[in-house]
Amino acid sequence: MPWWRTRRSEADLPSASPATGMATVSVDAAGRRRVEDIPYLLPKDQEELNRLDYQHYVLRQVCRGNVLAPVAKLLCEGVPVLDVGTGTGRWAMEVAEAFPRCQVTAFDREPPRSSQPLPPSVHFVQGDLLQGLPFPNQSFGYVHQRLLVAGIPLQQWPAVLRELLRVTRRGGWIELVELGLGLWPQGPCLQQVVAWWQQLSAARGMDASQLFLLGRWLREAGAVQVEQRTLWLPVGRWGGRLGQLLAQDLLAAARTLEAPVEGLGVPVARFHEILEGLAREWEEGQVTYEVYAAWGRKP
Ligand SMILES: C[S@@+](CC[C@H](N)C(=O)[O-])C[C@H]1O[C@@H](n2cnc3c(N)ncnc32)[C@H](O)[C@@H]1O
Repeated sequence: MPWWRTRRSEADLPSASPATGMATVSVDAAGRRRVEDIPYLLPKDQEELNRLDYQHYVLRQVCRGNVLAPVAKLLCEGVPVLDVGTGTGRWAMEVAEAFPRCQVTAFDREPPRSSQPLPPSVHFVQGDLLQGLPFPNQSFGYVHQRLLVAGIPLQQWPAVLRELLRVTRRGGWIELVELGLGLWPQGPCLQQVVAWWQQLSAARGMDASQLFLLGRWLREAGAVQVEQRTLWLPVGRWGGRLGQLLAQDLLAAARTLEAPVEGLGVPVARFHEILEGLAREWEEGQVTYEVYAAWGRKP
């Protein structure tokens, strides 16, 4: 049975409806809710939203804030902002709060399901990025996209970046932040998890090992003044509080693969054994994780 087939009743789940644009969803063998009409590899349920919120705080700490591109002046002036693949909407809400003159559009395949309602200056728009953005040319002064690694097939990155540029005003900025597979050194358990991730993503046309090319892709799409930064983060207790937080985040992300990996023919017990080995490996090897950030301007 393919891993995305449900073993539980889907009667309580919304089904596809062109009128409302609702996504088609299913529940996988491990009980994780998944969106089926996009190639997105990760689940979309409360557990994952909690992880994304938590990961947001890790990334905000690592990046020393929510904004890396040189857009402070534009934001103070109140340029319209777009957050692509907004997830929980946390980034959009915090930027709207910090820059009250900005209207922030939060775009995703599904609305955020946060217990906290969106403030009036954040407007949610539902859609599929891979079908194009439903906004006129030059609508935004700052376009932010973070962690779409599990959502964009490699062949579609150039078209996605051209689309981000299309909706950016002349002189406006695009910022991209991604986590790839840059985890070093890799002991046997980490190697296995990375191999599973690669195999499952490849089946959807994705390749997270190429994300160190973000800056080059942005330049090729037509952006100027492109800069790229790679940050190396510690994973595990050896890296202090940040290392512990990141280790928990990575473990939670790895757990989302239970049903897909079972679908590859791996017994669930073997999957959990490998995950248990991760914590030991990142302490022993003092594992670091690469974060890629790139930003550029629309000429
Ligand atoms: C890993 S989450 C990142 C969320 C947020 N950007 C953050 O940094 O916390 C990826 C988000 O992209 C959305 N997504 C994936 N593929 C998409 C697509 N084709 N169109 C629109 N949204 C998509 C998912 O629904 C999910 O909310």
